[in-house]
Amino acid sequence: MQLQKPAVADEAGVDTLEAYFDKYPAAAERIHRRGGQTTVMPNLQFRTDEVARIIAFLKYTSQMDTEGWPPVPQVAGLTFPQATKMPTAAVAVAAPPKGSDDPVTRGARLVEDNGCSACHSAGNEVLVGPAWGQLYGSDVMLADGTRATVDDAFLTRAILDPDVQIAAGFDKGVMPPYANLLETEQVAAIVAYIRSLGGEDQ
Ligand code: HEC
Repeated sequence: MQLQKPAVADEAGVDTLEAYFDKYPAAAERIHRRGGQTTVMPNLQFRTDEVARIIAFLKYTSQMDTEGWPPVPQVAGLTFPQATKMPTAAVAVAAPPKGSDDPVTRGARLVEDNGCSACHSAGNEVLVGPAWGQLYGSDVMLADGTRATVDDAFLTRAILDPDVQIAAGFDKGVMPPYANLLETEQVAAIVAYIRSLGGEDQ
């Protein structure tokens, strides 16, 4: 779609997708690497001018010199209370240990790794999608006017194929389907995690 605009095609120096992939093999490789399939990335509802601004921003950041990244704060000699180093203990707690066998812990990590938490909160706050706090066991209203009880099967379907049962008040097609992206065991861990966030059946 972008290449159909003369200005974009001019700047890229190509006007077909095939030529684009030839010229920018990393773009082709990235699509190949995720199996040439549906992307995890949702179709974000940006306007054309907003897309142009994001591209400009990415060009700007790509020109930064990131040698020596991440920056080390220079706090020596400063006296105000904010000028303290990040305690290493806090950093260690934030990252749960890899390979832990507890499904709830694994689930919590999976929702971070798969970007779910960009759209779902573990509490009551409604972000892009419904909140997960107290969801388990509750009766939810679906967009087609029917009601459903949130159990393991409901959550599993909602993750694998979100467009089959749309939560009332939310749009279809916003949440990407995870059927090709998560293993059965990973979905089960995520379900265990959402169950652990409370609800009527606890
Ligand atoms: C781009 C935003 C987005 C991402 C990323 C996303 N979701 Fe969703 N999700 C939604 C929206 C919007 C809905 C409501 C529409 C629907 O039911 O499909 C939803 C619905 C759900 C529901 C049903 C909730 C209910 O009350 O009916 C569950 C469960 C869920 N998502 C789990 C997940 C999990 C697990 C992941 C990550 C593996 C994830 N979502 C990633 C946006 C997202």
